This record gives sequence, structure tokens and C-alpha cells, in this order.
Amino acid sequence: MADITIYEGALDKGLEGVVACTTSVSFIVGNNLNYRGYTIDDLANNSTFEEVVYLLWNGRLPNKTELAQISEELNKNMALDANFISVLKTLPTNVHPMGWLRTAVSLLAHYDVDANDMSVEANARKAVRLTAKMGALVTAFESIRNKREIVQPKAGKSIAWNFMYMLKGSEPDAELVSIMDKCLILHADHELNCSAFATRVTASSLSDMHSAIVSAIGALKGPLHGGANEQVMVMLAKIGTMEKAQAFVKDALAAKEKVMGIGHRVYKDGDPRAAILRKFSQSLTKKIGKPELYEMSVLIDETMYKEKGLMPNVDFYSATVYHAMGIPTDIFTPIFATSRIAGWIAHANEQYEKNRIYRPRGKWQGKEGLSWKPVDAR
Ligand code: COA
Repeated sequence: MADITIYEGALDKGLEGVVACTTSVSFIVGNNLNYRGYTIDDLANNSTFEEVVYLLWNGRLPNKTELAQISEELNKNMALDANFISVLKTLPTNVHPMGWLRTAVSLLAHYDVDANDMSVEANARKAVRLTAKMGALVTAFESIRNKREIVQPKAGKSIAWNFMYMLKGSEPDAELVSIMDKCLILHADHELNCSAFATRVTASSLSDMHSAIVSAIGALKGPLHGGANEQVMVMLAKIGTMEKAQAFVKDALAAKEKVMGIGHRVYKDGDPRAAILRKFSQSLTKKIGKPELYEMSVLIDETMYKEKGLMPNVDFYSATVYHAMGIPTDIFTPIFATSRIAGWIAHANEQYEKNRIYRPRGKWQGKEGLSWKPVDAR
């Protein structure tokens, strides 16, 4: 092993503390997240998802014309064409929606004339198509598995509006659309998280954008990453009542089990996105007459802090927000993907711009000097 330098402190620690690349897409400073220099609070309070998509891809906020243009392009590219839908309908739906989404996005490449064109212009066209279609795919899955007609998006409406519309088939409530739009903003990027890194690793071999996004969806699916929001809802259902919440947390900690939606690799003093989502959770659970879901969440949150000093991440309160919006639990992580695709694309493009293939080394722990023997002699 003399030919490589081993940073022993970082070994088998999930690359904790390792800086893998320079980036100007998003950054965490203390317990603050910013996209391209704007704090997440500022963007969530004032922006729209379409504006944030433009910001992440172009490094600056759009002017009025540019915002109208990107909003229109995203809207126009949302609908899935009839041929593609007929192929989608042949995919079995008895899988997790994230598994289905992974296949569906891969399938999109077969219908994209730019799939293997790596030019900046082609990548920009694919970025719009992929981002526009993500929500349409998720809602198509929900329609197909429920044997309902796929709902086509409406012109002139945002990604958040159309997501709610295509999911339910009826015009969505304005307050819910506004909250969904903010949820999309909050999830749009997060520095070198697991799926963004997966995107960059795949892009670094100069593989195409669809391949990079498929890698990212696979990474996001796991319960230690995006899959946690679904698991939070499963956990709340399992706990059932307020009286059982504290004991559940204490038993989980004693058994060294993870409490979903809690803890973070980078934020040690709280995830700013969770603070915003907590307020939505409080108001929406009250609105649907299930305030106990919020109250139970708060009790779990407080118990985890008291027992372990850990705080909620983005997935903790988003679970009850989506539940209160009437969204099926296994669609929570696909909503994360519907938003995070914006950040994945920004990372893929940044990687393409200043690429060197990711190729770390492993510290050898196996046997050495063995000699092959014929099968009868083993
Ligand atoms: N529940 C219980 N204990 C937790 C925990 C959780 N959610 N998150 C971290 N811990 C504990 C670990 O058991 C470990 O304790 P120990 O030092 O006593 O052994 C310590 O905190 C460090 O945890 P570790 O898993 O090494 O942290 P990490 O930086 O590798 O992982 C997460 C970060 C987010 C993956 C981790 O906190 C987690 O698994 N959370 C639950 C899943 C989740 O919500 N994921 C979404 C992330 S946005």
C-alpha cells in the first residue's frame, strides 16, 4: 500500500468530512443551507420552484422574461406522449414507486432524440424534459396502479399545481399548491448528499444525463436518504398514540435502531428545512382534524433531542405534511425526486464542465499470495 496515502480517520466512515469537489450549486454553512448564495429561508419565503430551477441551473435568478420562458418550457414538456404511456403501462406496478420511477426514467432515454448527445445545448434540452416529466411519471404510476386514466397536465400551471392535479384528477386547493411548491423548493438541492454524489460519480465517466439521473434515483430510494420520509409515516402509524411515542423512541435507542427522519451527517444544530416543514405540519394536520400526528412528531423530536442530542432532518415533518395533503405514503420519496432532479442536473452539468473521473482507492484487507488449484484439488 506504499503507493497511496491513506487518511485513516476517514476510512470506512462514509467519506465523512471528505471534500470531494468544488461546487457553486449549494452549500451548508453552520445550520444554514443556501442555493447559489441565497438562503433556503429567503427562497422558501419568496420564490417559486420554477425560479429555483432556473437559479440552480444558471447560477442567478431569472428576470421576468427568463422566468416566463422556463416556466413555459417546463409546462410544455410535462405531458407524456401516447406511445410512451402505452409502454409504461406494460411495466408491473407491484414494486416500490421509486423502483418503477427508476425504470421509467431510464425508459425516457429510449424516446429522447438527444439521449447520447453530450453537447451543452442537448443537455439543456434534456434537463427541461427530465425535470418537467418527473412529476408526470410519478402521478402516471399512481393512475396506472389504480387503473385510472392518466391525467394530462394543464397549460399555464406550475409543476406544483400540475403535480397535485395529475395525482388527484381534480383542481387542487390553492393553499396546498403553495405548500407543495415550497416543499419542492426545500428539497431541490443539498450540496454533496448521497444522490447528488451518485449523479456526479456517474457523470464523471462522461456517461449521459439519463444514466446519471437513474443512479441518483437509486441512491435516493434508500431509507437512510430520501426513503426516510416514507419510513417516518410508517413509524407514526406503528406507534399509533401519543402515550406510546416516548417508549418507542427509548426502545429504539436501546436496541440501537434508527428513528427515521432524525439526525444528519452535516447539520448538528438542526436542519433549517425541518423548521419550515414543522410549521406546515402543524397547520395541515390541524386542518384535516389529525393534530395528534403533529403532536406525536413533536414528542418524538423532543425525546430524541433529550436522549441523544439529535434533531429532525427534512424528512421528519415532510411526512405529516404530505400525509395531510392526502398523498399516499409510498409517493413521498418520489415527490423528493420530483424536486431533487433540479439539483441533480445542476451537479451533473457542473461535473461535465470541469470533469475528472471519480476513482478512489480501497485499502486492501484480503489475503495475498494465493495459488490457483484445479477444482478437484480444492
Ligand atoms: N436514530 C437513532 N440513532 C441515531 C440516528 C437516528 N435517526 N441517527 C444517528 N444516530 C446515532 C447513531 O446510532 C450513532 O450513535 P452511536 O455513536 O451511539 O453509535 C450516532 O448517532 C451517529 O450516527 P451515524 O449513523 O454514524 O451518523 P451518520 O452521519 O452516518 O448518518 C444519517 C446520518 C442521516 C444517515 C442518520 O442520522 C440516520 O440514519 N438517520 C435516520 C435516517 C434518515 O432520517 N435519513 C434522512 C437523512 S436526510
